[in-house]
Amino acid sequence: MKKNILITGGAGFIGSHVVRLFVTKYLSYNIINLDALTYAGNLENLKDIDHCSNYFFEKVNILEADKLKQVFEKHQITDVIHLAAESHVDRSILSPLDFVYTNVIGTVNLLNTAKEFWKDDFSKHLFYHVSTDEVYGALGNTGFFTETTPYHPNSPYSASKASSDHFVRAYAETYHLQTVISNCSNNYGPYHFPEKLIPLFINNIINKKPLPVYGDGLYTRDWLFVKDHATAIDTVFHNGKINDTYNIGGFNEWKNIDLVKLLCKLMDEKLGRNEGESEQLITYVKDRPGHDRRYAIDATKINKELGWKPSVTFEEGLAQTIDWYLENTEWLNNVTSGAYEKYYDNMYANRG
Ligand code: NAD
Ligand code: DAU
Repeated sequence: MKKNILITGGAGFIGSHVVRLFVTKYLSYNIINLDALTYAGNLENLKDIDHCSNYFFEKVNILEADKLKQVFEKHQITDVIHLAAESHVDRSILSPLDFVYTNVIGTVNLLNTAKEFWKDDFSKHLFYHVSTDEVYGALGNTGFFTETTPYHPNSPYSASKASSDHFVRAYAETYHLQTVISNCSNNYGPYHFPEKLIPLFINNIINKKPLPVYGDGLYTRDWLFVKDHATAIDTVFHNGKINDTYNIGGFNEWKNIDLVKLLCKLMDEKLGRNEGESEQLITYVKDRPGHDRRYAIDATKINKELGWKPSVTFEEGLAQTIDWYLENTEWLNNVTSGAYEKYYDNMYANRG
């Protein structure tokens, strides 16, 4: 059966890499990118592939059940890879309900649409839900998140993602929809919206603006190059066990302050600035409320069972990322103008 795969959130950071990979690698599949084009969605992210004959775009909000149904019928959708979400923790602290609407209700809308459209034979179809390691909560100084770690979300964002994961599981159990879930660690790379740590700090270093490090800077994140997340999604989509879950990560933990110092050093070299110049921009600011201390993914299962592993080291991935931002100043300027600037001023006004 020919595959017509609906990828939601394909105009966002990770979604655009997944769409590009599938459109260019699987010429016999039709790839339908469904995205509401919120502040985080940008069709410029896909301008290199939007002419491809197996690529289609639908501007639809996943809250609009009728329009979802029309898209399923129009394109005869066979499978879903669901990435559309509100994704920024700080925004979830300011506006939790936006996260409930898109991440919870939007996901349930999509599940209902798939369930209804595929009801004659669930065995031919897959609903793949892309989730996050943040559902597991925070780790102490040791240990890793495995697929059996109990959920313990601490932010409105992670609570909404945890809830959507539970709905996906419930639809598999109750209605026999075929599903798979993956929970990935922090991504970085090209097309990352400059509200998140790495692209925000690259942009601020370029513009010699302060680098706002939350709290004591000793929070730890586990970083994966976005193109490696896309290949992991490809692997899980094609070879993952039905109704199972996979953790995705690169065993690559960094304390925020160490990462920021490395970024400053690499940027000084690339920009021809004096050694230590960008580090002087580091400014400790008020902490994020409910800030999770440490994330670390145990990616043994996807490696052992499906043979996936990351393709680049952190040093290679970070260098590629910095080069991309330096070569794509037009993209950066386009997304940092207008509404985004207002959000930025608002977000950091009360952090001191
Ligand atoms: P992003 O914010 O860059 O992109 C989200 C996309 O979803 C945007 O294109 C946006 O327009 C679209 N969208 C938002 N609300 C929508 C709605 N109601 N209807 C239709 N489209 C809508 O996010 P990202 O960083 O690319 O994350 C993608 C997915 O991966 C999310 O589900 C996120 O939870 C998950 N994830 C992200 C990371 C990370 O480090 N960024 C890590 C693990 C998992
Ligand atoms: O772990 C996966 C998650 O990673 C994804 O599910 C989320 O969608 C994604 O946004 C990301 O969440 P984080 O909160 O970890 O990412 P963020 O880039 O916002 O922050 C990374 C760390 O840097 C975190 O400890 C907070 C800190 N930080 C962040 C910003 C934006 C700062 O110190 N200063 C900042 O200005």
